[in-house]
Amino acid sequence: MPWHGEPIEMKKKQSTAMLGLGYDAANYHGSMKQPIFQTSTYEFPNAEAGKQFFAWATGKEEPPLNTQMGHIYSRLGSPNTALLEERLAHLDQIDEAAVFGSGMAAISATLLEFCRPGSVLLHTNPVYGGTHSFMVNYLEEFDIRCFQIQHQWSIEKVVANVQSTFPDRPVSGFFTESPANPTMDIYSIQKAKKICEAFRSEEQFVPVIVDNTYLGPVLSQQHKNGADLVVYSLTKNIAGHSDVIAGAVTGKTELISRIKKARTFIGGILGPMDSWLILRSLETYTIRIQAQEENTRKVAKFLVTHPSVEEIRYLGNITDWNPEQQVIFSKEYGGIGSMIALYIKGGEKEAFTVLNNIQVFKLGVSLGSTESLAEHPYSMTHAKVDDTLKEEINITESLIRLSIGLEDCNDLIHDLNTALNLIN
Ligand SMILES: Cc1ncc(COP(=O)(O)O)c(C=O)c1O
Repeated sequence: MPWHGEPIEMKKKQSTAMLGLGYDAANYHGSMKQPIFQTSTYEFPNAEAGKQFFAWATGKEEPPLNTQMGHIYSRLGSPNTALLEERLAHLDQIDEAAVFGSGMAAISATLLEFCRPGSVLLHTNPVYGGTHSFMVNYLEEFDIRCFQIQHQWSIEKVVANVQSTFPDRPVSGFFTESPANPTMDIYSIQKAKKICEAFRSEEQFVPVIVDNTYLGPVLSQQHKNGADLVVYSLTKNIAGHSDVIAGAVTGKTELISRIKKARTFIGGILGPMDSWLILRSLETYTIRIQAQEENTRKVAKFLVTHPSVEEIRYLGNITDWNPEQQVIFSKEYGGIGSMIALYIKGGEKEAFTVLNNIQVFKLGVSLGSTESLAEHPYSMTHAKVDDTLKEEINITESLIRLSIGLEDCNDLIHDLNTALNLIN
C-alpha cells in the first residue's frame, strides 16, 4: 500500500483536528461545542461595516490577510458552515471546501460552473444514477455533450477519440466517480490529470473532478494525485448516521471561490443545523471508517464461501476481479472502505429474495451509515440508466449493493447467510 504507515499517522492528526480545529470556545461564551447559528440574517455593527462585508463577499475588494469576514446572510455562509468547511478542507489536505444542501447540489453547481454551452464533458461510467441523469439528460439541454471514457483506453486514445468525435467542441472537464457506485471500479486520477492537461489551453481550464463519496477523504486523498475538485455526498460516510442530506466540494482557493460564487446564486448552501450535525459526525469519522472497514473484510471473507454467490467485488479483493485496477489502487488509493458489490447466482428474483429476507441489514438506498444497508442498483439507484448500458458496465439484475455498518459482524454474516440460503 502506498501510504502504509502514513494514513495511520494522518488519521491520528485528522481525528484530533476534527475535535478542535478552527474553534475557540472563548469566542462563544465558553461553549464546548460551537452553538448553532439558527438565523437567516446578521446585524451589521454599522453601515460602513455592511458596505465592507459586501465588497469582500462580492469580490469587489480582497479582504486583507487574516481578516475574519463578518457574516451577512446565511445563503452566503454562517459560522457553522465556515467551521465545517475548514475541517473538511483539512481532511482533504487542501485549501478550501464549499458545503451544499446535498451531494447533487455540490455536483450540479460544480458542473454548471465549469461546463460551458458548446463544450464536452468527459466522464467515466458508472456514476451514481442521479449524477448520470444530470449529465446525460440535463446538461445536454444546455448544449453540453457528455462523452464516456473507457477505462482501458490509453491517454492517446482518449485524446484521439474525443477529437474525432467532437472536432469543434472544447473539453470543459473530466468527471470520474472513483470508486464507482455500485461496481467499485476505480480510475487513475493521475491519468485523468494527464488527459485534462492535453486539452488545457490559455483560455480553457479543464478540471479533473472526482466524486470521492465511496471512500472519503481519509482513505482516498485525490488532490495529491492531481484532482482539481473533489466532490462528496456528505450524506454518506461523513455524516454517517442516515440523518442528514449534504454535499461538499474541496479544492484550491481560486476554484472554490468560483464555486462559492455559483452557490450564492444557485442558493444550495447547507443550513446551520445540518452543518452542526456533520461537525458532530466528524468527531467520530476516522474511528467509524476504521471499524466499518474491519467489518467489511469479515463480511466479504464469508460471502466468497457461500454457494449462492457468483462473485463479490470490494477493494480488498480487487486483484481477483481487476488486476489492472489493482495497480492503480495500490498507487493512488489508501483504504478499502465499507462497500461491497455482491453478484448472486440468478437474477432479479433471487436478488429480491435476499433483499426481502434480510433483517439486520436494512433494505434501503444510501450508504456509509452506521447501520448496514442493502439495495438493488439495477431497479433502484440506477433505474434510470439505459438497460443496455447497465449490462455493459456490470450493473446486472443479479447485483446487490451492500454498505457495511457498525453492527456486530457475526450478526451481519448470520443475516446474509440466512437470506442467501433461501435462493434455490
Ligand atoms: C457516489 C454518489 N455521489 C453523489 C450522490 C448524491 O448525493 P446526495 O444524495 O447527497 O445528493 C450519491 C447518492 O447516493 C452517491 O452515491
